[in-house]
Amino acid sequence: MRKEMIKLLVSHDLISEEDAKKLDSINDEKIEEYIKDLGFGKTEHITKENITENLETEYMGREILCFRKVFSTNSIAKFLANHGTKEGTVLISEIQTNARGRSGKKWEAPEGGVWMSLLLRPHIPPARIGLITLTTGVAIAKTIKTLGLDAKIKWPNDVLIHGDKISGVLTEVNATLNEIDWIVVGIGIDSNFKLDALSEDVRNGTTTLTEELPSDTDANSLIAKFLNEFEEVYDLYKEGEVETILTDWRSLSDTIGKYVNITQTGGKITQGYVVGINHEGSLIIERQDGTLEKIISGELRTVE
Ligand code: BTN
Repeated sequence: MRKEMIKLLVSHDLISEEDAKKLDSINDEKIEEYIKDLGFGKTEHITKENITENLETEYMGREILCFRKVFSTNSIAKFLANHGTKEGTVLISEIQTNARGRSGKKWEAPEGGVWMSLLLRPHIPPARIGLITLTTGVAIAKTIKTLGLDAKIKWPNDVLIHGDKISGVLTEVNATLNEIDWIVVGIGIDSNFKLDALSEDVRNGTTTLTEELPSDTDANSLIAKFLNEFEEVYDLYKEGEVETILTDWRSLSDTIGKYVNITQTGGKITQGYVVGINHEGSLIIERQDGTLEKIISGELRTVE
């Protein structure tokens, strides 16, 4: 991680190759300072100024760091989170070269996409962490719907357009049993690029805004719209207004009422009919023998 940060600083000419070799001479506070300097004026289309024009939030995205190219915005967000950076800080990169997806998979993040990470520090019981993924899915789906597309959510938070994935979320957390230190929510929206910018094995089952819409979508206003939607649902999340979020999630769901196959973390496979989600965001499955099972996390596939 530290090495990743130093490479980033070198690539933006913030430190020399020589200094980078003397890793010990650079302390973490200095690195953090440098990273903050990176946030302005180095990108080609996404800028803090242009996002801010349409931002209606109180705190979400009021601190934005925009990069041209990084390994992973989640990695930088985690680094900053461990150094005290405040809630609502948003990191965006026009390209990611080593982005991560759920279940340890790689995530392809070419030019034209919206790749961002949100740093959150909610003062809520850690038991409620799981719901942040559903909350984020709701904000993304609502944002994409404003473009006139019929966005649906596949549990827990993939956003689909007519069955093809257009957005995914990777949530990373640092918490004890009693307290959350930070949550980093990483969001990828496949926006202004054609499917052929992705490798062949991920094209199937994926779509992009370019494939769905007649013209390009303005990334800056899309990001602002998302942050506006997100702050609204995130405030409900912090206030414990779980039922309101779940009601929204259910109305956007592409999963409830389907027959599915779920590979749970740990490898167990469950097959059955999706009855609904509970107040923790877990999926409730009715198995063939009529018994119910609660699934906290896993990879879901619809059975035709
Ligand atoms: C998924 O597998 O569906 C989750 C994809 C999450 C990708 C985003 S892009 C911004 C952030 N940085 C990362 O390295 N991953 C997330």
